[in-house]
Order: sequence, then structure tokens, then C-alpha cells
Amino acid sequence: MSDKRFRALVVEEGEGGKFTRSLKERSVGDLPEGEVLIRVHYSSLNFKDALSATGNKGVTKSYPHTPGVDAAGVVEESSSPQVKPGEEVLVTGYDLGANTDGGYGEYIRVPAGWVVGLPEGLSARESMIYGTAGFTAALSVYKMEEYGVTPDMGEVLVTGATGGVGSVACAILAKAGYSVVASTGKTDQKEFLTGLGVKEIISRADSADTSGRPLLKGRWAGAVDTVGGEILATAIKSAKQHGVITCCGNVASGDLPINVYPFILRGVSLVGIDSAYCPMDARREVWSRLAGEWKIDALDGIATEVALDGLDEQIELILKGAQKGRVVVSLRK
Ligand SMILES: NC(=O)c1ccc[n+]([C@@H]2O[C@H](COP(=O)([O-])OP(=O)(O)OC[C@H]3O[C@@H](n4cnc5c(N)ncnc54)[C@H](OP(=O)(O)O)[C@@H]3O)[C@@H](O)[C@H]2O)c1
Repeated sequence: MSDKRFRALVVEEGEGGKFTRSLKERSVGDLPEGEVLIRVHYSSLNFKDALSATGNKGVTKSYPHTPGVDAAGVVEESSSPQVKPGEEVLVTGYDLGANTDGGYGEYIRVPAGWVVGLPEGLSARESMIYGTAGFTAALSVYKMEEYGVTPDMGEVLVTGATGGVGSVACAILAKAGYSVVASTGKTDQKEFLTGLGVKEIISRADSADTSGRPLLKGRWAGAVDTVGGEILATAIKSAKQHGVITCCGNVASGDLPINVYPFILRGVSLVGIDSAYCPMDARREVWSRLAGEWKIDALDGIATEVALDGLDEQIELILKGAQKGRVVVSLRK
């Protein structure tokens, strides 16, 4: 098997720090060490993949490299008793696609501790429509509920609502019975958002308060923030008493211009979300919810499918913040 050749997207660093992407043949023998060899059938595109694919050294230190933080497929070889050849599995996060060759290749080799059995009720393709973005959305809702938010407590806000994490968060929250308000820069996407179950849309401009006031009228029982910056600060300042705000992203800004008053006067909780190193018990629980009670009815409606050679255009779109929903990558052909 070690001399088996396979197709992969390879990102290379050229003269003057210029990065190029191309489809190449690689050898299974060159993959990193690990107990489990997986034939990848589907992967997906996340913001982090676009950074890795364009030479962001904060994500990927050394090139040549094959990105792809997500992969779903079938185990071909395993030296671990936990994982059996022939099993359908998925891997998201850990170091996959960051500094370990990732899901934009037909094969990955990973530690057994990274591997999750494909939950019943979800196909490999469906699991990658969710991918890391969908898993992160579900983990955010899971954490919000762990901190005590329930649908009868009032409206919940989702920021960056048309993006990968945001769109899945809107759909899961609506499915779970919440009244969902979407903050978006794409106010022309009303049909897409209402199709996900969103009740009201607010513009990105109206989501960022710049008055400098420490507290605003309390509106949100909870919020899933995917963008950071002024928009996250505004969500925190607009949380109701004991509101719970999750924070996973920084597409707007990595800064958080806020003071302590929402925390000490309203008991607001700000909950950090790290999908990559989510512990295995919670990871399995969240995947099983995504396959069961939170499974989005029209998963296909948020998905654009491309093959490896169609990724370039999608990478440019996600980097511009122009992506809508999720991109699933097929490596079956
Ligand atoms: N912590 C974790 O474990 C984890 C896991 C996955 C992703 N993330 C992070 O979560 C964020 C979202 O990821 P994603 O995959 O959903 O990305 P995405 O598909 O590109 O979605 C991001 C959305 O944010 C909005 N947006 C874009 N630029 C913006 C700006 N300058 N200001 C305000 N809003 C802007 C856009 O939605 P609208 O047009 O609808 O506003 C965009 O579609 C990223 O920062 C990503 O790195 C973190």
C-alpha cells in the first residue's frame, strides 16, 4: 500500500513567498505517521482551509502542504483496536489540514484518537456538508444550552448568518424551537435565511453599536457569534439578564471592544468555542445530535458541491466573505 499513488491538492511556496496550488500525484508512503489510513470520499471548505491554501503561516507553518481540516471516508488500514478497516468514519479538526496533510487528498493517515465513527443517520457526504463549520455551529448551540438557555427564554442572535457556521447555526436553532434573528451583510439573502427558519434579519451595520455605551437594551437570551469585533461586543451589551453569547470567529476583527458591565450587572456569559480540540465525549454527542434531533431538513439546500479542481473559485469567494452556506468537496471520482 505504501507505494500507492493518489490525487491531492498541493500548495507550494515559490520565490518571494508566492504560493501556488495544483493537483498532483502523491504517494501513501509520504503521508505522516498515524494508526489509521482512510480513503477520503468527501471533504469540505472552511475559512481556515482558505487560509492554509493561500499560505497563511499562522495556520500552516511549512509547505508543500495538502489542506483540508475535514475528511469523511472509509478506513483502509488500522493498527488500532478502536478503529476497524471497512468502517465509515469522519475526522474534523485536531491538526488535520493545518500541519498534517488533510482532506484535499484521496488518502489521509491520522492518529486513531482523531477518528469518529460516522453517526447513524448521516451519510459521509452529509457529514461533510456540516464539516467543521457545522460542527462548530452545533457545538455553540450545545454550549449555549449547557449554560442554561432554552427556547422559551426569548430571541437568539446569529451573526455572519449566511456563512458556513452562521447558516448551520440558524438552521439548528430554528429546528430546536428558538426564535432566530440573523445578522448579515447580505440583506439580499432574505429567502435563503428565512428558508433556514430565521424570523427576522438585521443588517451588519445595525449590528454594530458605536455609541460607546457600556450596556444596551437587553434583547438576546443567547447568541452565536462568528465574526468578533464590534458586532460581538454589541451582542454582549444587548444580552438579557443571564444571556449566553458564544464566540468562535474573527472574520470582522480579533478585537473585543467592551468593558465589564454586561458581565457584572447582567451576569452575561461569554463562552469560547474551540472545535478543533473539542474533547471526544462532547464531540461524539454533538455529531449524534447533528445526525438526529438537530439534523437540518434541507441539508442539500445549503451545499455547493465541487471536485478538487473546482476549489480555487470557492477559496477566493470565502476569503472575500462572499460565501453562502457550505462547500462540500467530492473526492469520489
Ligand atoms: N473556533 C472554532 O473552532 C472555529 C471553527 C470554525 C470556524 N471558525 C471561525 O468562524 C468564523 C466563520 O467561519 P465560516 O466557516 O462560517 O466562514 P464563512 O463561511 O466565510 O462565513 C463568515 C461570514 O461572516 C460574515 N462576514 C464576512 N466578513 C465580515 C466582516 N468583515 N464583518 C462582519 N461579518 C463578516 C459573512 O456573513 P454575512 O454576509 O451573512 O454577514 C460571512 O459569510 C471564521 O472566523 C472561522 O475562522 C472557528
